[in-house]
Amino acid sequence: MKDFLDTSDLTPQLVTDLLDRAERFLPLTTIADQLGAPLRGKHLVTLFSEASTRTRTSFELAAKRLGMKVVNIVVGMSSLAKGETLRDTILTLDAMMPDVVVVRHAVAGVPHFMARFSKAHFINAGDGEHEHPTQALLDAFTLRRHFGRLEGLEVAILGDICHSRVARSNVRLLAMMGAHVRLGGPRTLRAPGIEHFANGWSGTVQVSASLREALTNADAVMVLRIQQERLDGAFFPSLGEYFAHFGLTSERLAWAKPNALVLHPGPINREVEIASEVADGAQSVIQKQVTHGVAVRMALLEWLVHQEATPREPALRQTHGQSESGHQNAPGGGTRAATTPTYAVSVTERGQPAHGL
Ligand code: MLT
Repeated sequence: MKDFLDTSDLTPQLVTDLLDRAERFLPLTTIADQLGAPLRGKHLVTLFSEASTRTRTSFELAAKRLGMKVVNIVVGMSSLAKGETLRDTILTLDAMMPDVVVVRHAVAGVPHFMARFSKAHFINAGDGEHEHPTQALLDAFTLRRHFGRLEGLEVAILGDICHSRVARSNVRLLAMMGAHVRLGGPRTLRAPGIEHFANGWSGTVQVSASLREALTNADAVMVLRIQQERLDGAFFPSLGEYFAHFGLTSERLAWAKPNALVLHPGPINREVEIASEVADGAQSVIQKQVTHGVAVRMALLEWLVHQEATPREPALRQTHGQSESGHQNAPGGGTRAATTPTYAVSVTERGQPAHGL
């Protein structure tokens, strides 16, 4: 696999393998000495056009713990701000031969578009409302560490499903791993058709009629932020009303199983989608998710860079320099050609959606 762009790039075997690999990287505090910098000499570039605290820092710390050098590009300070196209930007970066490029963009499909012009491994760190695949991996890791399995888990995902890439990635990955997902929240923030993401997998996805139905007997509850930056209409009367009707309070959490886990991808909006007493309570694993994110990204980076049996040929132009080979392929891995994304995305060179996405 050259790039990691979607959860549909994954298979159950590959998820299991990556989560097993991530176990080796905990605890983070002692791992650097034991590892001996397996990716020393490799370079990672982050290219973020949207705000991020945890994802960008998590990739940077993961890469540095593996011995990589990291360059951070803030899009507002790059030549994209001077009118350069996405294609020209990535051709320029590619000429400097980074090994891995991590991209976050407000438009769905931009990481996919850029990856086609580069020899580097591309990782999607969140593209519009489409996918945030490493978030789903770290959420799965957190659940598996706690419950010892993903299969058969009942997971409630609450809130702004419609605008959430985290919801889409989690729904796909959890269904792939045999979990049962119930989606809860306002009708206006549902995502029509999302239940079909489970097609072909042993897990299920159900849109619940009420918050109570979504929460009843849940093993774990994932709470999502209202994606205010993506709302272009009135989806609910006010944030206060939202909290009153859909916020996860202790009383509502009691509808789930006793000791149900509470997850949130962050950033959290206290007293909007989640009460402080729940976010900071004994059932919350929100900070653990952040720690786990570093271990999971270490596992992904190491695997992606080391599995070079598939040549890193960009689809659209000649590669530069020598080929690299001789590394093992991981179980369950496949090529991009074999794992065509099921969500068709199309962007122009300047990163605008091509079909009114
Ligand atoms: C994201 O980038 O999608 C975050 O991890 C979740 C959020 O912004 O609500």
